[in-house]
Amino acid sequence: MGFLEEIKRRRTFGIISHPDAGKTTLTEKLLLFGGAIQEAGAVKSNKIKKTATSDFMEIERQRGISVATSVLAFHYQDKKINILDTPGHKDFAEDTFRTLTAVDSVIVVIDVAKGVEEQTEKLVEVCRMRNIPMMVFINKLDREGKDAFDLLDEVEQKLGLKVTPLSLPIGMGYTFKGIYNIWENNIQLFEGEKKQTIGKKIHFQSLEDSKLEAAIGAPSLQNLKEELELIQGVYPKFNRESYLKGALQPVLFGSALNNFGVEELLNCFVEIAPEPLPKDAEERLIEPKEADFSGFVFKIHANMDPNHRDRLAFVKVVSGTFKRNNPYLHVRLNKKIKFAAPNTFFAERKEIVDTSYPGDIVGLHDTGNFKIGDTLTAGEVLHFKGIPSFSPEHFRYINNNDPLKSKQLAKGIDQLMDEGVAQLFILNLNGRKVIGTVGALQFEVIQYRLLHEYGAQCGYENLNVFKACWIEAEEKNEDFKEFKRIKQKFLAHDKSGKLVFLADSAFSLQMAQEQYPDLKFHFTSEF
Ligand code: G4P
Repeated sequence: MGFLEEIKRRRTFGIISHPDAGKTTLTEKLLLFGGAIQEAGAVKSNKIKKTATSDFMEIERQRGISVATSVLAFHYQDKKINILDTPGHKDFAEDTFRTLTAVDSVIVVIDVAKGVEEQTEKLVEVCRMRNIPMMVFINKLDREGKDAFDLLDEVEQKLGLKVTPLSLPIGMGYTFKGIYNIWENNIQLFEGEKKQTIGKKIHFQSLEDSKLEAAIGAPSLQNLKEELELIQGVYPKFNRESYLKGALQPVLFGSALNNFGVEELLNCFVEIAPEPLPKDAEERLIEPKEADFSGFVFKIHANMDPNHRDRLAFVKVVSGTFKRNNPYLHVRLNKKIKFAAPNTFFAERKEIVDTSYPGDIVGLHDTGNFKIGDTLTAGEVLHFKGIPSFSPEHFRYINNNDPLKSKQLAKGIDQLMDEGVAQLFILNLNGRKVIGTVGALQFEVIQYRLLHEYGAQCGYENLNVFKACWIEAEEKNEDFKEFKRIKQKFLAHDKSGKLVFLADSAFSLQMAQEQYPDLKFHFTSEF
């Protein structure tokens, strides 16, 4: 198969949802359809259970699972599909944001009874900002839930999307009878009292088919006809261009657990979802079909075995082919590096791979060369955009509790920050280190990992910070000079040396914004 065909057949995407909406179940069903696994239950849940804060074995177990499920690849029809895992737990949201820089599209899973939930809102907002093509799967149709049209409204209003339903449920929960597939223009009925297994699927080509009335009854049929009319009147027709631009989101209904509508979702996905998309670098736009390799690191996973300090860096191939043993330029270090054993991922297996194509994810063993956001190329100096750090929500001083191990502590902190576990800020005034995290759980993770992987002991001290903002200003600006003098106590630098204002309250942030209009206050590190 030629290079261009290899690109065209790749589909790299992520599934996002609020915890418990059914992401793991759906992933598993997609893998089953792709023949990548043989039985349900094979993909372990990567959910962080509530006990994780105090149960460190649980944290390690979760990390193990999350390595295994970072990339799940399978073949379906003539396509190669890569699912990138996105943790649903909010304390790991930043991980998910970074992974979203490596996907070409997403499927949003929503629980029919709970509707749009908090975590879905945040993740969809990031996708919307980047115009990532999105499909919505409304799950758990076997249960009583909200009315389909109310849900479509909710998705539009809460998520700011423009939807077009591509399927419609007939009944719900106890009265659920099947799904009218607008996309394929057929109806599939499901049987079985408890709906735990798929009943016989019956295909109809037209609503006028007399067998249909016999199967679902006259009232349901009448209702369905009215609903379809409503859809035609109210929602725009599906248009692939708009979907690819992120301006229109198709919605499908089903039940992952019971396999209702899953195959239909997959068939629709492989038909409409984009092949690998061009990516913006600071220098220029990079097209996948360019001959020269380029890619970027979006995730780093530390080895589970503390005796082996190597890590696995996940690289998304943006253009050209990545070849084993070829020297590639590590742009930040300005150094050529060869990789003797790059990994590819298949369901839950890792294998050494000789050649990878745009859209693929390659796992590279790393002894500390990589940071999240690093670019690798065949030789050109490129810096891919779009891997920002977000303003953390929790802040604490980190102190060394074992003076004999200060080197180990510094190294450990450095490496954990490169992995993106948390962010480090160094106060301008006294050089003290402040750790900022998205969730409180990370503090426990850092303490545990520093001890077990680096032999270092750290302690924390509370610090009153409301938000970290990256400051952009002209060095010579008088306002900026005054700001630096007056706010000296609240200024720090991040790991790349950028100036950060650690505002202690919403009020002081607002005051500073009003007082210094020439300064720009950014809530992400990329501006
Ligand atoms: P997540 O990854 O988004 O967090 O969700 P996950 O797939 O783990 O699903 C959360 C719960 O919802 C699971 O039940 C799962 O079986 C159930 N579920 C998923 N899809 C459907 C569906 O279509 N219908 C119904 N009724 N339930 C569904 P659990 O009891 O938490 O876990 P388990 O013991 O079944 O694994």
